[in-house]
Amino acid sequence: MATNEGLMEKIVSLCKRRGFVYQGSEIYGGLAGTWDYGPLGVALKKNIENLWWKRFVLDREDVYGVDAAILMNQEVWKASGHVGGFNDPMVECQKCKHRFREDHLEDKEKCPDCGGKLGAARQFNMMFKTQIGAMEDETSVSYLRPETAQGIFVNFKNILDTFHPKLPFGIAQIGKAFRNEIAPRDFIFRVRELEQMEIEYFVRESEWKKHFDYFLDQQTAFLEQDLGLTKSKIHPVDVPAEDRAHYSKHSIDTEFDFPIGQKELLGLAYRTDYDLGAHTKASGTDLSYYDEEAKERFVPHVIEPTFGVGRLLLAVLSDAYAEDEQNGETRVFLKFKPSVAPVKAAVFPLLKNKPELVAYAREVYQNLKRDIPQIMWDDNGNVGKRYRRQDEIGTPFCITIDFDTLGETPEMKDTVTVRDRDTGEQERVVVAELSSYVQRKIAG
Ligand code: GLY
Repeated sequence: MATNEGLMEKIVSLCKRRGFVYQGSEIYGGLAGTWDYGPLGVALKKNIENLWWKRFVLDREDVYGVDAAILMNQEVWKASGHVGGFNDPMVECQKCKHRFREDHLEDKEKCPDCGGKLGAARQFNMMFKTQIGAMEDETSVSYLRPETAQGIFVNFKNILDTFHPKLPFGIAQIGKAFRNEIAPRDFIFRVRELEQMEIEYFVRESEWKKHFDYFLDQQTAFLEQDLGLTKSKIHPVDVPAEDRAHYSKHSIDTEFDFPIGQKELLGLAYRTDYDLGAHTKASGTDLSYYDEEAKERFVPHVIEPTFGVGRLLLAVLSDAYAEDEQNGETRVFLKFKPSVAPVKAAVFPLLKNKPELVAYAREVYQNLKRDIPQIMWDDNGNVGKRYRRQDEIGTPFCITIDFDTLGETPEMKDTVTVRDRDTGEQERVVVAELSSYVQRKIAG
């Protein structure tokens, strides 16, 4: 797919204007590769995470959730291979001194910023190194985790000992990870601080392919059914051996048609027994599994579906972004699937200077909010302006309390107008049925 820089700019600007995503440390000129989520961004992010947690943890009996510490014993990262191998090839321009990832450059000789000559590539470790406690020596070194996966592997034995799961089973985690990207860019696509959602799924070696294929289907189902992403923009791509992570024997990335082109959205890797084997050796703790029925002890193999929340959020935003013409004006709207939308419905009194309308509307708002927390009150400007504002943040339903609600037209007493974001069509709904009406629509 071709890039659409105009669309990316519109999304970045909408995200700031409407409170989805702000530049990190903005009042100090920003900090490259960091972004702060505003009220609507947090709501959208939590909806994505909750849908993921529901599909991959709550709706299943074989996946256990954990929330491990970000800082871990440095031996973890030596054993996992990240100290030695979590590198990107970096080149520096000999003239302007700008640094680039060599594998992202088309011309490996010439600086894309000033045309100067690029130096030789060297391996740059992407982990953020830090110091634990007051002593600054080699024993106090730690790292901000570059993947949540290792917090899962070090808890494998805890889960075995406390829950006694039978193979196959998985451990899932949502949390922050950090990568010192050489060239962070493209808004929230390539960042230095990110949020991951990962599952390590433990299987018998002989069954790895069956589980791998199953999770590839589950990843696609999550994107299409839960997030409502457009099917034709989703592309599973085999990762060739030279591009795979050091622990992977087979990987399929799922790419997506972002405004910046077709790029990696999420990954699936067959990590074999690489991690449990390495931690057994390095820690001296036995991380094998005993199969009671087969009377067999072995180190399980691992299938790893991994998702980046920021990239999913960018995919959802860019897929939802739409413009049309209404009343001679260009209207911008985010056609989120209702289950993903940060605000499910907005409630307005037709006029804000009519106490009887406001009192009725407040009651509708409060009753609805009790059942569906993501409801917004809006009484700024006229109804047309409120529709534009709600369209821009992707609110699927706008509910207006007018004089007919109060009984001006007797047969319409205690009904409200519900306007659909995408079609602009309006329906009259009985107040007593409003909550179930909206909940039914959200459920799809
Ligand atoms: N755990 C896989 C990754 O962080 O890419």
